[in-house]
Amino acid sequence: MRVIVTENNQGIGEIVGGMLVKTVQDKPDATLGLATGSSPEVVYDYMIRAYQRGEVDFSRVHTVNLDEYLGLTPDHPQSYRYFMDTHLFNHINIPMDNTYVAEGIGYPENCVKRFREVLKHTHVDIQLLGIGEDGHIAFNEPGEVLRCGAHVEWLAESTIAANARFFECEEEVPRMAISMGMGDIMRADRIVLIASGPKKVDAIRGLIMTEDIDVHNPSTMLKLHRDVTVVIDRGLAELVGYTEE
Ligand code: F6R
Repeated sequence: MRVIVTENNQGIGEIVGGMLVKTVQDKPDATLGLATGSSPEVVYDYMIRAYQRGEVDFSRVHTVNLDEYLGLTPDHPQSYRYFMDTHLFNHINIPMDNTYVAEGIGYPENCVKRFREVLKHTHVDIQLLGIGEDGHIAFNEPGEVLRCGAHVEWLAESTIAANARFFECEEEVPRMAISMGMGDIMRADRIVLIASGPKKVDAIRGLIMTEDIDVHNPSTMLKLHRDVTVVIDRGLAELVGYTEE
């Protein structure tokens, strides 16, 4: 696992946005695995700027997202489909048909079935991940058992509380989501996980400061993958006690 420390959050956008852009420059029909939440915003801003500068063409790129809330329509401002459209897809030349965000409406088992079908035919070149305060990746929450394939997940109380900042109040946060499983994430050729801010200290400490794989911090399973890059800002690196060699 490679760890990169940037000066600040903006630096995460430049490094990781640069990695995703380079992936597309090298392979114009690449498939990008994408994430939502606050962390990737700087990454998507960088990608949009690179596109506007004419440095990258997304017309043959495909994308698949990690997860979606159950119960939110695609046009709900807090749905992950809406997030992706407004933070990235509407600003670059990717055909909308090339983008997949799992459906959050309808029978959950049907949403899972369709997501699994899409993933069966998808080979992700590079997967972008954020990380929850409890170490979740996608919506794979800590627990005795982690799921391999796409599934419905009950969100942990700490995740509901953390995500309440995007909603009017905590009661409005959906309690369930459809999520890629750990196996889906691990199948990506390359993985890049980003984090900043003091709330991620415990999760990042478990990921980069120990050799343990801990079901109570699902991100630690990434230690089994051959090509993972963790990009954090200096403030977080100092809080977890990470020093660059
Ligand atoms: C979002 C996702 C989640 C977030 C995580 C961190 O698609 O899969 O795992 O990456 O909850 O969210 P932020 O970046 O908002 O702290």
